[in-house]
Order: sequence, then C-alpha cells, then structure tokens
Amino acid sequence: MRNPSLHSILMPESTAIIQAWHSRFEEILPGYLPGPEKTPQLLYQAMHYSATAGGKRIRPLFAYASGRSLGLDEQALDGIAVAIELIHAYSLIHDDLPAMDDDDFRRGQASCHRQFDEATAILAGDALQALAFEILAADHLLSTNPKAQAAVILGLARACGAGGMAGGQVLDLASVGNQLTLAELECIHAFKTGALIEISTMAAALVAEARTEQLEALSRFGKLTGLAFQVFDDLLDVTGDSEATGKPSQADAARSKPAFPSIIGVEASYKRAYELRDLALAELVHLPGETDTLAWLAAYAVDRDS
Ligand code: IPE
Ligand code: IPE
Ligand code: MG
Ligand code: MG
Ligand code: MG
Repeated sequence: MRNPSLHSILMPESTAIIQAWHSRFEEILPGYLPGPEKTPQLLYQAMHYSATAGGKRIRPLFAYASGRSLGLDEQALDGIAVAIELIHAYSLIHDDLPAMDDDDFRRGQASCHRQFDEATAILAGDALQALAFEILAADHLLSTNPKAQAAVILGLARACGAGGMAGGQVLDLASVGNQLTLAELECIHAFKTGALIEISTMAAALVAEARTEQLEALSRFGKLTGLAFQVFDDLLDVTGDSEATGKPSQADAARSKPAFPSIIGVEASYKRAYELRDLALAELVHLPGETDTLAWLAAYAVDRDS
C-alpha cells in the first residue's frame, strides 16, 4: 500500500476504508498475543517479533471486506481476522526455515530463525498456530453462535492442514527441480496459498449464516483471488524490488522452484493473474451488500509492489 496503484486512485473511498481497517488491525493484534508473564521469554519475543512485523494483512482485510459485503461490521470478525493472520505468520516462519525455503529476510527484517534460532522459530510457529485456534474457541462474540463457531474452526483447520496450506507446502517442496505443468503448479498454489485466503473470505458467510449461493460465491472469490495472489507473488519474486517486498528476490529460480514466470513466462503470468482477478470480480454480483472493498482487494492482489 506504499505506492498508490490504479485501484487506489480509482477507488478512493475503498482505499480509506481499507487503510482504516489496516490501522485498526495493527492496534488490536498485540492484545491477542500472550503476555510476557506466562510465556517463556524467548518464545514471547519470537512470537511478537514475527506476528507484529507488519505485512500487508491482506487475509484480515479479506475477512473484513467479506463481512461488509454481508452487512457485518468488523468487530464481528476481529477474532477470526487475528486467528487467520497468526496462522499466516506461523506459515511464513516455517516457510523461511533452512529445511524449507531457507530465506534470511522477511518483512524487511531478519527471518525468525535468523533473529533467534531454528528451534525457537519452529516453536514460535507451533505456538502461533495453537493460539489461532485458542482465539477462535475463546471468542465471546463467536461463541454466541456455536454452530458458526464450529464451522469457522473446522474451516480454518482444513485450510491450514494436510488438505490446505501444509499439504501445499509439501507439494511445493517436492516440486524443486521438477518440470511441472501449469495445472500442477496451479494446484500447488491453490493448496499452499489459496486455501487460507478462501477461508478468509468465507468466514464472514459462516458467521452470518449466509445463503448457500452467497457462501459459494465468497468461496469461489477467495479461491480465485488466492490463486491470483500467489501468481503475483511469483511475479514479484522475478520483477519486484526486495527493498519493497521485504524478502529476497529471485529466490524461486535460485532454488530451482517451479513458479509461474519460469513455466509460462512473465507476460503470460500477468495475463493469468488478471484473468483470475476478473473471474473473481464476476462473483461479486451474488453478494447482497457493498462489494467495493472486496473489488479493491482483488485488484490490489495483482497490482502491488510488496
Ligand atoms: C507471502 O504472503 C506468502 C504467500 C502466501 C504469497 P503475503 O504476501 O501475504 O505476506 P505479508 O503478510 O504481506 O508479509
Ligand atoms: C509461501 O509461498 C506460501 C506459504 C504457505 C507460506 P512462498 O514461499 O512463495 O512465499 P514467499 O515468497 O516466501 O513469501
Ligand atoms: Mg515457500
Ligand atoms: Mg518462501
Ligand atoms: Mg514467493
């Protein structure tokens, strides 16, 4: 959100709403993290170091924007937004480990295992994952509707488990040095990144007990933008500036990891990202409320410098 892109210029009202959600999220997040009294100091430091290091917070923003499209205000989704972001923070800590992508920088600072050590990074990730589910199970607003609460917990567990992010990460690592088809790469991206973005957009529909067609539209919207988001992440790895992304550039090629630009080229990758964004935007007609911020985020997913 550093350089105003086309969608920011064309959609100033949505830009203001998104910026307000972003600032608000940064304010509430630390309150959900464990305090220093009950947490071993090293773990406390590592959890805070990675979870409060900034980042785009796009998954919480997707959750709030989906809520808006169904008439829910952001307070109703705070616990969910934090839980999803903590799962994401954990996935990044583990993604950077030497056993995985072996990256030294993340969000403009040393990655967790470089700042602390590998064992602490692994355990900080573990603890953030557990905390995410603790937040959902203890959320006062969510527990007024046990059916919705169980559905959100189930949805997040599936999105980050073997059939979602963790499964996708396994396939991603197994792909190193291999020639993949485009369909195979899209499948990996859908698992490793799409699933968590999909639950970010679907959560509001679960909370609001929305009609099936609305739930399904938000599910498809999340899948499509999630895939577009990872295609653009692959593009940023090649075309981006590591000062802006806060992480190493050219890292996929350096590890012989199949990525969109290496399989279909840079131009075709942009084309696919925009095509996915447009398919996602077409889903918004099924939603009853304001979809401007969802459209803003879909545009941002494929028009950003970080
Ligand atoms: C990076 O995620 C990893 C992917 C799944 C592409 P983000 O690009 O959302 O990273 P932050 O949270 O903004 O740092
Ligand atoms: C990470 O994908 C996806 C996760 C589930 C964390 P990448 O490995 O491409 O993400 P970056 O580029 O390191 O942020
Ligand atoms: Mg990775
Ligand atoms: Mg990585
Ligand atoms: Mg990447």
